Amino acid sequence: MKIAFVGKGGSGKTTLSSLFIRHLAARGAPLVAVDADINQHLGAALGLDEDEAAALPALGAHLPLIKEYLRGSNPRITSAETMIKTTPPGEGSRVLRLTEDNPVYRACERTVALDGGAIRLLATGPFTESDLGVACYHSKTGAVELFLNHLVDGREEFMVVDMTAGSDSFASGMFTRFDMTFLVAEPTRKGVSVYRQYKEYARDFGVPLRVVGNKVQSEDDLDFLRQEVGEDLLVTVGHSDWVRAMEKGRARPFAELEEPNSRAMEALHEAADAVYERRDWERYTRQMVHFHLRNAESWGNAKTGVDLAAQVDPSFVLREDVTRGQDAPRGGAPRGRSAPQPA
Ligand SMILES: Nc1ncnc2c1ncn2[C@@H]1O[C@H](COP(=O)(O)OP(=O)(O)OP(=O)(O)O)[C@@H](O)[C@H]1O
Ligand SMILES: [Mg+2]
Repeated sequence: MKIAFVGKGGSGKTTLSSLFIRHLAARGAPLVAVDADINQHLGAALGLDEDEAAALPALGAHLPLIKEYLRGSNPRITSAETMIKTTPPGEGSRVLRLTEDNPVYRACERTVALDGGAIRLLATGPFTESDLGVACYHSKTGAVELFLNHLVDGREEFMVVDMTAGSDSFASGMFTRFDMTFLVAEPTRKGVSVYRQYKEYARDFGVPLRVVGNKVQSEDDLDFLRQEVGEDLLVTVGHSDWVRAMEKGRARPFAELEEPNSRAMEALHEAADAVYERRDWERYTRQMVHFHLRNAESWGNAKTGVDLAAQVDPSFVLREDVTRGQDAPRGGAPRGRSAPQPA
């Protein structure tokens, strides 16, 4: 299950992502955590010290490797250079799984030990001066989008992404890549306005979106959120001394998280699991093609000098039961499979 945490800056995306990640890890769920935010804080929230967090390998720095691996023997993708962040998989492409070993994990992951189990952590890498103000095809989160578009995941295994609610994710289609998006909102007008913007984009694409109220202190806070977001409000989290203690460098065992906040994490888990039955791989594939064609026209063709629409394999559907290719090189990497042609 692909889960995103989005929301206004400072709303608590990283904090709630990290609590949710700890919750899942404590229950033994296989898990890949991704820091895709401009400000890289997820590693620290998961307990890495400053040096460890700063030393995280960056997905954005390994794009050539990632593209080369994912394109596999797909004849429609003639080189890694012509792959853009929305290039969809097709016959011959490699797909990714959450629990396997592959060169992308080997180059980019870091294992983080948490109470109850270790998780894999990936990070896009910090934005540097040279990233500011450049066109979206330079976007570091492009690696995460490629990852999501090639990921074949099942029930009770999770990719949890700490995102930024920037306009980049709307332009690229990144916001449609998740089974569930948790929008973290403080009970303020600004917190709720990000929800409205997200909701508007999400509606046209059938994106499951639930609001998680954060730093909710009073009945009045709760009333405000109920009034503003209605049924989309899933659960609220109050001020957490457990979180504060961790921020002071006095981390406590996860089992000591306040009971109401622990229940809130359980509610998130249930909400994420509940959308499993509604997953639609055909729609998922259709949407990635839609955004790819849009990007191709607006900048991709000009940038690569080729017609990127030709990368689309019209009969391919990403799905959970992709077969493992007979000729999979080194390590038997799973491959995508073309779906039967529609009658
Ligand atoms: N429920 C909570 N209880 C106590 N402290 C909290 C809670 N939620 C968030 N915080 C604190 O608020 C600050 C901002 O939270 P956090 O970094 O998670 O927000 P963010 O949305 O990820 O921010 P950014 O947009 O900068 O990435 C942090 O210092 C965090 O510890
Ligand atoms: Mg953050």
